Amino acid sequence: MSDNAKLIYDGQEYEFPVVTGSENESAIDIAKLRGSTGLITLDPGFKNTGSTSSAITFLDGEEGILRYRGYRIEDLAEKSSFLEVAYLLIYGELPNQSEYENFTKEITHHTLVHEDIKKILEGFPSNSHPMGVLSSLICALTAFYPDSLVPNRSEEEINLSIVRLIAKMPTFAAWAYKNEVGHPVNYPDNQLDYCSNFLKMMFALPAEKYDADPVVASALDKLLILHADHEQNCSTSTVRVVGSSQASIYASISAGINALWGPLHGGANQSVIEMLEAIKADGGDAKKYLDKAKDKNDPFRLMGFGHRVYKNFDPRAKIIKKAADEVLGKLGVNDPVLDIAKELEYAALNDQYFIDRKLYPNVDFYSGIIYRALGIPTEMFTVMFALGRLPGWIAQWKEMRENGEPIGRPRQVYVGANEREYVSMNKR
Ligand code: MLT
Repeated sequence: MSDNAKLIYDGQEYEFPVVTGSENESAIDIAKLRGSTGLITLDPGFKNTGSTSSAITFLDGEEGILRYRGYRIEDLAEKSSFLEVAYLLIYGELPNQSEYENFTKEITHHTLVHEDIKKILEGFPSNSHPMGVLSSLICALTAFYPDSLVPNRSEEEINLSIVRLIAKMPTFAAWAYKNEVGHPVNYPDNQLDYCSNFLKMMFALPAEKYDADPVVASALDKLLILHADHEQNCSTSTVRVVGSSQASIYASISAGINALWGPLHGGANQSVIEMLEAIKADGGDAKKYLDKAKDKNDPFRLMGFGHRVYKNFDPRAKIIKKAADEVLGKLGVNDPVLDIAKELEYAALNDQYFIDRKLYPNVDFYSGIIYRALGIPTEMFTVMFALGRLPGWIAQWKEMRENGEPIGRPRQVYVGANEREYVSMNKR
């Protein structure tokens, strides 16, 4: 295959290098396109645009493959822990025993947050969506650690910010929920593992004893691994673009949380359960809703099916489906909404319309179901996604910085008015 791609435009021929990644994906390097031809590319949604070369996550949507730093997601979900995967994503290699112990110790040590954070939290109305609260509290870290605003910080200083983020995120997430339900916040318990500590901060009440269920904690750990990175998705691209302006790591991650919030991205898991609730309220007829989804004139949209890059089963969805079945069995959960989900899944997987369009249930379909079974309230689903995605965002931010990537600055094709004379107010 040629190492160059040719473009013929306005009678002239131009050549552009073709770069090939370690998994043989090829891309035309158009860095010199505008300089040599005067043209730019137009690609709304960046579906055909590689914004970076990255060594973190590989995915093949046609084959249904997902790997972090070369390790299969199936192996990591089965054999690893969330903090081990976080280390892998951020530092590039699986930690050895002492690296893992140090990393875990550092994170445990930094779980507590400044008392003044509580004052910020108290300023939010109690019906605030926890995603908005979470992104605000993460951004507020710029005020508590103003050194993070300095662009050229040492590796040691960056690592401290990274540890603080991973350590404090569960505290903020649980507090965002406590604010919503009007309960007093719980402080972290450093005797507990990452997920049990989060569950305790989220669910413990002053009047009752609380011990996190190990089945729930372990299922949550697996879910966080499955969400930990997904190459250049909307929120990750946001983190990289915001970070490319040399904004603080906390501001960049806060921006990523906001991007994740939308129903077309991380907010989809919440939309799935809301859709299932609506189907239940309407009599629970899954078949009727499949027909509505197929009807072009019906505004109903089947949430949790299909994916922008997977044209095969999302490998994460396969693992979550299995985990969901196990957890539901172990916890003895009996929930009519989950029964509707199963019916919908079965009907869609056997319906030619969905088969032809490769509309498989995706990660958001099953994660909503399992979070519900674990007792996580619906409005916290996207927060759980953010908790899982944090190491991926951090790894991508760090890589962008280490690569010395330029500020993200796409161009446009202007289609507005041509130059015209200003018209004074009394003449309009
Ligand atoms: C993700 O995990 O970020 C979602 O599946 C969305 C995506 O990759 O575009």
